[in-house]
Amino acid sequence: MTHRGFFVTFEGIDGCGKSTQADLLTTALEERGHRVTHTFEPGGTTLGKRLRTILVHDELAVSPFAEVLLFAADRRQDIDEIILPALHQEQIIVAERFADSSIAYQGIGGGVGKERVESLMNLITSGLIPDLTLLLDIAPDKSLARKASLDKIEQRGSFLTLVRRAYLDMAAQQPARFVIINAARTREDVFQDVLAAVLKRLS
Ligand code: TMP
Repeated sequence: MTHRGFFVTFEGIDGCGKSTQADLLTTALEERGHRVTHTFEPGGTTLGKRLRTILVHDELAVSPFAEVLLFAADRRQDIDEIILPALHQEQIIVAERFADSSIAYQGIGGGVGKERVESLMNLITSGLIPDLTLLLDIAPDKSLARKASLDKIEQRGSFLTLVRRAYLDMAAQQPARFVIINAARTREDVFQDVLAAVLKRLS
């Protein structure tokens, strides 16, 4: 899908610091005169907020494949309502999570199958791929220690070790798009690397 904006995503396991870094990046880019839209999945849209409750907080039984489809519905709404309009206006989109999350969490971590989730993501995104993906890499024991309480997905325990490995493999396979950032440091140190990676691509 072609557009004239710039699409940057943050990925990583729970507690890696995506929200903090996405906020810092949005502010820093706006201060440099860029028009920026910040979104997140699941939950960046009104439909997404409803889906987030089901996916993250409810006790409702959702099978692994159905879970992929609900994340996909949230994603498509985010694309149609927020991401594409901003990209067509030549804005920068700063997104917390995108298709890579479904590939890592459901495809590999949840056992749905990497190829199956990849082809589904290709379909539901109409081939929209981030220009840059910042992988905030941290060990699960360190990242979960930062969180006050664990949500439904985080409670799956050793699952996050699998998800971390999946992300690192994806980054190794797509070095032109991914930048791996050591997230087990202070937020200021992490942000220095985040900003440097984004400014390098923008210039
Ligand atoms: P968040 O805490 O980053 O907002 O994400 C909420 C949870 O949803 C987190 O445990 C990761 C999970 N998730 C998936 O499993 N698949 C997805 O496609 C997305 C976007 C999130």
